[in-house]
Amino acid sequence: MILLGIETSCDETAAALVDDHRQIIGQCLLSQLEDHAAFGGVVPEIAARVHLEHLDRLIAKLLKDTGRTLGQLDGIAATAGPGLIGGVLVGAMTAKAIALVHDLPFLAVNHLEAHALTARLTDDVAFPYLLLLVSGGHCQLLAVEGVGTYRRLGTTIDDALGEAFDKVGKMLGLGYPGGPAVERTARAGDPTRFPLPRPLRGKPGCDFSFSGLKTAVRQCIDKLPPGPVSATDAADLCAAFQVAAGDVLADRCGHALDRFREITGKNGPLVVAGGVAANGYLRQRLAQLGVPLIAPPLALCTDNAAMVAWAGLERLRLGQRDGLDFRPRPRWPLDPDAPPAVGGGVKA
Ligand code: KG4
Ligand code: ZN
Repeated sequence: MILLGIETSCDETAAALVDDHRQIIGQCLLSQLEDHAAFGGVVPEIAARVHLEHLDRLIAKLLKDTGRTLGQLDGIAATAGPGLIGGVLVGAMTAKAIALVHDLPFLAVNHLEAHALTARLTDDVAFPYLLLLVSGGHCQLLAVEGVGTYRRLGTTIDDALGEAFDKVGKMLGLGYPGGPAVERTARAGDPTRFPLPRPLRGKPGCDFSFSGLKTAVRQCIDKLPPGPVSATDAADLCAAFQVAAGDVLADRCGHALDRFREITGKNGPLVVAGGVAANGYLRQRLAQLGVPLIAPPLALCTDNAAMVAWAGLERLRLGQRDGLDFRPRPRWPLDPDAPPAVGGGVKA
């Protein structure tokens, strides 16, 4: 069974072919970083236009590179939400058109489910597992009980962790996206020089909060001498921020592992997914929680189409498919029954 996957929900235009032996037959990915860099963040309208401009040729290149034709496929999967709706529409409509012309099953994939199931593509992980999904738009802990069955144990009540990394990077003039730059800059830093808070650490539950941490970084910068932040100050601040984020993640995941044990009787494993899972320091912290840690290779942590093809394949082999009337969803929580996060803000 071979599926084509399409990802267009944020600033990556991507297409990939994946088979049911967990092989990534090929993938093509075009990052829009340069298109958005001048704005310090992703501009939805620009993102949608760039997806529209490139997606068809990217799919053609993927097929040429792998020597496949659309007629050889068993299904087409596209991210159909959550995400920036203009881009999602481009990907979903392209997939529907191919499915219609070639009479193939269409799979409307939840982008979060694609992140959630990636560890089954890379490491063949069995259900259930505890998932920490940390990206630019999401920060959640979920018990993954099966394809389509997710129980949210915690979520952020304000910012996602990737968003906080990006804002810290921006405040320090490190460019966009901030995550990789903050990690690089932190390597030369002293994490003890600036005292930063650990929001919600030690509190009951598994929710997250990062806006106070981000604000504390801002206040440290405001107390520095005027003008550009020096390399040493930037390194010390990045190191302090990253260690604080690591402390919070470790604490919240510890609580979630206890809860997961109550629900399933199992001691992990803990799976990480989403762009922030590319961070080596945070991975190392999570590896010390006393349960097996499964972290996909970096290129499959950040947005990609192989995870979308795989999520589609997991659903198709269970006999599921979606109608061509499926309406893409800008918001699409994995656990629709989850209560709102303590503190009110809901990011789904
Ligand atoms: O999953 P992703 O590619 O897109 C979505 O948000 O869905 O995640 C992108 C996020 C950005 O906020 C980026 O700064 C962050 O992941 N990120 C990192 C690292 N690499 C990417 N954050 C911390 N350390 C990294 N090495
Ligand atoms: Zn993502």
